[in-house]
Amino acid sequence: MKPPKFQRPISQHTFLVLLSLTLVSKAVSSAPFLPPKPPPVPILPLPTSQQLLWQLSEMALFLHFGPNTFTDTEWGTGHADPSIFTPSALNASQWVRVAKDNGFSRVILTAKHHDGFCLWPSEYTDYSVKSSPWKNGSGDVVAELAEAAKNAGIHLGLYLSPWDRHEPTYGKTLQYNEYYLGQMTELLTRYGVIKEVWLDGAKGEGEKDMEYFFETWFGLIHQLQPGAVIFSDAGPDTRWAGDEGGFAGSTCWSLFNRSAAKIGDTDPEYSQEGDPGGHDWVPAECDVSIRPGWFWHASQVPKSAKTLLDIYYKSAGRNCLLLLNVPPNSSGLISDEDIQVLQEFTELRSTIFSDNLAKNTLITASSTRGGISDSRFDPNLVLEEGIYTYWAPEENQTGWVLYLDFPELVTFNVLQVQEPIHMGQRIVEFHLDILNEKGNGIK
Ligand SMILES: *[C@@H]1O[C@H](CO)[C@@H](O)[C@H](O)[C@H]1NC(C)=O
Ligand SMILES: *[C@@H]1O[C@H](CO)[C@@H](O)[C@H](O)[C@H]1NC(C)=O
Ligand SMILES: *[C@@H]1O[C@H](CO)[C@@H](O)[C@H](O)[C@H]1NC(C)=O
Ligand SMILES: *[C@@H]1O[C@H](CO)[C@@H](O)[C@H](O)[C@H]1NC(C)=O
Ligand SMILES: *[C@@H]1O[C@H](CO)[C@@H](O)[C@H](O)[C@H]1NC(C)=O
Repeated sequence: MKPPKFQRPISQHTFLVLLSLTLVSKAVSSAPFLPPKPPPVPILPLPTSQQLLWQLSEMALFLHFGPNTFTDTEWGTGHADPSIFTPSALNASQWVRVAKDNGFSRVILTAKHHDGFCLWPSEYTDYSVKSSPWKNGSGDVVAELAEAAKNAGIHLGLYLSPWDRHEPTYGKTLQYNEYYLGQMTELLTRYGVIKEVWLDGAKGEGEKDMEYFFETWFGLIHQLQPGAVIFSDAGPDTRWAGDEGGFAGSTCWSLFNRSAAKIGDTDPEYSQEGDPGGHDWVPAECDVSIRPGWFWHASQVPKSAKTLLDIYYKSAGRNCLLLLNVPPNSSGLISDEDIQVLQEFTELRSTIFSDNLAKNTLITASSTRGGISDSRFDPNLVLEEGIYTYWAPEENQTGWVLYLDFPELVTFNVLQVQEPIHMGQRIVEFHLDILNEKGNGIK
């Protein structure tokens, strides 16, 4: 036999692949081609890939840090002397480590809060880290966090407060919008990939009146960071959940009408529940602080792990992202008490969710799309992790029922049910009935 021109040893692996190819082509030639049933048509509106990534990540860590950390205030006046900004041991890697160890896949920093102080050396103002004693004025908190997050594979988001109590141009519409866009451009071009931009309509009573050019801001953000989602009271990509307690409405639709909400003046009920008839996909983000305040105060203590679990069920468990604020202290580190509570919270979640009691059940359904031979919509797929494997019934059914037959008695008090939201949101409600061996409902 003549050797082929290029010869390499045929491994067992290669051989097996060839063999299975042969079998497939034989099967095709001897049976008529039966095309599989495609997935159902998604229903509009659909999430963008950025929104899906955000929504499936469940939890983000908010970091409120700045002059307020040193002056024991929540809303700085904008007149605190930069000399007070002296975090002696600031370590952004510690913040990111705390996030990563506890299941948070993104961190969001208050790059500028209402007091106008910038945690990065902005060229448009000297009210920033460069006027502080920290690192002799050569430090950059945003850069340190961006670097730490990148090294740990954690996504970065930034909050740039529109309300600015320091900046002299605040109140002059054109000049201040130019200032804000200039700062936004610095943040979105200097620090690598930014996955979320956070802004709100917060403003003190009797504050100067001026217009924010929101549509211009959104256009610029999406242009500079196409992978970023924009948070505000009313989207465009994610919306405020309507309160600062971390709870979403007990039904919380990703669907919403952006035109029915105004940044800085939203109807909390509409934000909490969303709109089953809404034509925009704007899922809710639930922001809440682990402590009573958003900034660190020596006198305050963190919530308990059980409280955090309750918040998790009522935010991530209701189709939202939980944005938990864990404020670094005046040393520039996340405090031990907060780390302790976060570890307990992580252990609770791991105990509850690591053992799926339904994994050995026999699952059947009232109907299966494409018939029971179509394994792509098989009811047993509901046991798989993630939303991309799912059960689908046949079309035009009046009832949709999944039966889980347990081989032995189990007790449980948590049921996790998910919808494949990459195909839109269509499920209005779920019912759970528990039947005994005779098929009778039990309470
Ligand atoms: C900063 O924090 C990280 C993560 O906890 C740690 O490994 C590192 O040693 C810390 N750096 C300093 C200077 O303490
Ligand atoms: C800060 O600047 C002072 C005065 O210029 C200098 O003595 C000191 O070594 C500097 N410290 C650091 C950390 O660069
Ligand atoms: C949202 O828009 C839909 C139509 O696109 C409409 O049916 C619904 O009433 C609107 N909701 C509100 C609160 O305006
Ligand atoms: C900040 O937290 C660290 C623990 O990460 C602790 O060592 C330090 O004492 C705290 N600083 C203050 C001012 O409480
Ligand atoms: C479902 O019902 C609609 C409206 O009655 C009909 O057009 C469609 O053909 C039906 N689909 C199937 C798979 O029976």
